Amino acid sequence: MNDTFRAQQITDSVYWVGAIDWGLRDFHGYATSRGTTYNAYLVLADKIALIDAVKAPFKNELLARIASVIDPQRIDVIVSNHSEMDHSGCLPEVIAAVEPERVVASKAGAETLRQHFDLTSIEAVEDGAVLDLGNRTLQFVETKMVHWPDSMLTYMPEEKLLFSQDAFGMHLATIELFVDNLPRELLEAEAAKYFANILMPLVGPISKALAKVQQSGIALDIVAPDHGPIWRRAEDIAWIIGKYVEWCAQKPTMKAVVTYDTMWGSTERLARAIGEGLKAGGADPRVMPLRGSHRSDVATEVLGAGALVVGSPTLNMNMFPTVADVLTYLKGLKPQNLVGAAFGSYGWAPAGVRHVHETLAAMKVDLVDDGLAVKYVPTDENLKAAHALGVAVAGKLKAACARG
Ligand code: FEO
Repeated sequence: MNDTFRAQQITDSVYWVGAIDWGLRDFHGYATSRGTTYNAYLVLADKIALIDAVKAPFKNELLARIASVIDPQRIDVIVSNHSEMDHSGCLPEVIAAVEPERVVASKAGAETLRQHFDLTSIEAVEDGAVLDLGNRTLQFVETKMVHWPDSMLTYMPEEKLLFSQDAFGMHLATIELFVDNLPRELLEAEAAKYFANILMPLVGPISKALAKVQQSGIALDIVAPDHGPIWRRAEDIAWIIGKYVEWCAQKPTMKAVVTYDTMWGSTERLARAIGEGLKAGGADPRVMPLRGSHRSDVATEVLGAGALVVGSPTLNMNMFPTVADVLTYLKGLKPQNLVGAAFGSYGWAPAGVRHVHETLAAMKVDLVDDGLAVKYVPTDENLKAAHALGVAVAGKLKAACARG
């Protein structure tokens, strides 16, 4: 086997044996502008365990990194913490190559792997079960819906190491293995983007999982996620857990996201006036034209914002397609505690604004009146009304922030 790809040692017994996907730019609709890693870990104890696998095209990279440390056929146990195919895609081929004694997953994970790959030999482990590797042990912690029904964490007490699967991860391709060797701004941007686009709809189960880990009293020296760098300094682990608590709470801030598309520039002129009004009212507007702002970047800005103002022209008695796209995406992500408004221009019926308004209402956004619909090209009066709408949204936002 070629020795281009090598394992990297993390602790006395644990090696990183994952894959780096430098070229990934789309992860089911999420723009991954910095690529990603699929992390897998090899535990060299009396018995040898592989924790998670990688996306199917990266199987040879995984096996080569394992082979740089041991013969892959020496692996006794494979643990699948999460069945999504970025971690399980090569599992059938890896099982065939390694022939482990056991492959374990949560109960839902065993079923999911059967449904994906017709794998019938997966052993289901209970929440709290312990797998003895001799001089190391693996403890399984079920974390249903964080972020799939099958999700679980694996904790190794001897090295106070948590294999956290997607949790605390980020889509960031890097040869640098540890968080503490990367800039904090980059980590915050990518961890927030990951949380906004993958985890935001699941803040209830995530809060429960955080409480479960905290109540268990387990010590954490290392948190090893399935994407991006590894957390190993106490201050960094405390920081990312604190960020998760903050992102779960989604307390309103004075940040206001204005996103829109435009046909002939009228809706854009309204957006500009609304942005000025938001600023005049004391808010911090982020104006994001959809020609140039990816839906996943809008979602990231919405996490940590207190207002969402959405503009659309009317096209064929409907919203503009790009606006429908971002609203469909945001609705699924279930952002919380937002105020907002709909706006836009129209030709003969204000259907676009009405659809935006109805969608925002269905998302439980606390809306200012019916929003603002302007026929054809905004007049000076219309622009004043748009400015006033921005001021009104900022006022509502101030009140929401005061309530906390
Ligand atoms: Fe990284 Fe939910 O898979």
